Amino acid sequence: MARKIAFINDKGGVGKTSLIVNVAACLAKAGKRVLLCDFDTQSNASIWLLKLDRWNKINTTGEGAVYSLFDPGKARLKDIIVKDVVEGKAGEKLLPGLDLVPTTFNFVDLENEYVGDPKRPAYVIFQENLAEVE
Ligand SMILES: Nc1ncnc2c1ncn2[C@@H]1O[C@H](COP(=O)(O)OP(=O)(O)OP(=O)(O)O)[C@@H](O)[C@H]1O
Ligand SMILES: [Mg+2]
Repeated sequence: MARKIAFINDKGGVGKTSLIVNVAACLAKAGKRVLLCDFDTQSNASIWLLKLDRWNKINTTGEGAVYSLFDPGKARLKDIIVKDVVEGKAGEKLLPGLDLVPTTFNFVDLENEYVGDPKRPAYVIFQENLAEVE
């Protein structure tokens, strides 16, 4: 069974993004299969791992972003995972085993705009999706 580690801290600029990206990279380097799920509306971890060009495409279209699991709600987590996310300039895989569920700026709407089924809150939808890939 997969082990889940959550990194949460309300304080700004304390090293959350640096910690999560480097812990994920170290675990992958040590041979673990790692799925980093980015829930930060600032998207810094996603931009760091994808680099700006690849992330921009997701941010512009919304396709492949974690928010698409909730709105329009048709995507499944298994289909938006970016496998072996870290790539070099020629597209070569630099860190096999580190996968990413990318986020985009519109993820902020989950808190403010999203009206879902009250019987299926966002965290339930996410857990159901995660169970499909565990
Ligand atoms: N262990 C460390 N030692 C020194 N500087 C660090 C360390 N970890 C992170 N930093 C630096 O501290 C700054 C903030 O780090 P980071 O962006 O990871 O924090 P954050 O908590 O994710 O910030 P935000 O709240 O803006 O999302 C960055 O400039 C980063 O390079
Ligand atoms: Mg951060």
